[in-house]
Amino acid sequence: MAILLPGGAGYIGSHTAVELLNAGKEIIIIDNFSNSKPEVIDKIKQITGKDFKFYEVDCLDRQSLEKVFEENDIDAVINFAGFKAVGESVKEPLKYYHNNITGAVVLLQTMQKYGVKKFVFSSSATVYGDRGKEIKYVETMKRGETTNPYGTTKSMIEKILEDVYFADNDWDIALLRYFNPVGAHESGLIGENPQGIPNNLMPYIMKVANKELDHLNIFGNDYKETKDGTGARDFLHVVDLAKGHLKALEKLEKEKSGLYVYNLGTGTPYTVQEMVDTFKRTNNVDVPYEYVGRRAGDLPIFYADSTKAKKELDWTAEKTLEDMCKDSWNYIKQMEKNKGE
Ligand code: UD1
Repeated sequence: MAILLPGGAGYIGSHTAVELLNAGKEIIIIDNFSNSKPEVIDKIKQITGKDFKFYEVDCLDRQSLEKVFEENDIDAVINFAGFKAVGESVKEPLKYYHNNITGAVVLLQTMQKYGVKKFVFSSSATVYGDRGKEIKYVETMKRGETTNPYGTTKSMIEKILEDVYFADNDWDIALLRYFNPVGAHESGLIGENPQGIPNNLMPYIMKVANKELDHLNIFGNDYKETKDGTGARDFLHVVDLAKGHLKALEKLEKEKSGLYVYNLGTGTPYTVQEMVDTFKRTNNVDVPYEYVGRRAGDLPIFYADSTKAKKELDWTAEKTLEDMCKDSWNYIKQMEKNKGE
């Protein structure tokens, strides 16, 4: 029985593939490499010393997807496939709705056709929306108004999954709401390497530290809600996040059916300033920065109430902010080294 990972060559998918293989699970990765590279597949094999099947397939391609289900004994699906650039989603909403939502629907229809009903979904804290003074998000809160099409696709897919479960209680579904994943595998072989100029904080810091960009713009240092005026987030190490998927899968394997929602975060917010200072100190590198105005659509601070995942999944994030900074930098250094060889 295998676990299918659509988007398994991507940032979070590849780290989850490693954790599943290390736990002795059989996996199959499908990916269209829209935001990842084929060599990631070899790196996953190199880290784990284990082999697995890979198909270059797009989730919108129903025929090829069916072939994967036809040829394999699939027990569960953990879906990482989807576009994730917030700014791009504002400019090209239809591209996001088509790829993320239609892709998920085709995948779910294919699962239904082949009688596979265990599904773990990569959701996001963005589904809580702007909650004003409520800055600690707990799963009992209703989904809020999302602020961009990317966030809306996450929210809509959650709703679709609720409807699927309502119509057929045999489904066994976990919605995992990620907070701010950063860091890389400690081997330095896999990590996040966005093309072009990054939008998210950690990839931007990495490029500045590596002198590919000359300085970081810190968006806002006048937020009254945070300890030093810069924005604050619940940053979590991607390896901790990957382990959360393994725990969620084990939960679904234990339960016959159900619909479960979990926040995956550390429960502790750190500010942008703390992140920059920690990165500089831990790695002994310079990260020049400048304070600029707030970025439109940013919230001052939000973080996870992570008690439900601890209680029901026995999962807590273990890695520190230093680990996140050290492993991100190690990944960049390894890449530089490989380029030079
Ligand atoms: C964003 C998305 C979220 C998505 C996540 C992916 C929104 C509202 N949220 O989260 O849906 O899941 O990315 O990881 O868009 N910052 C700077 N300078 C920079 C970049 C960021 O100061 O160059 C600050 C931001 O203002 C923010 C913090 O760093 O305070 C984190 O930003 P970012 O990494 O982009 O994540 P979010 O905006 O929290």
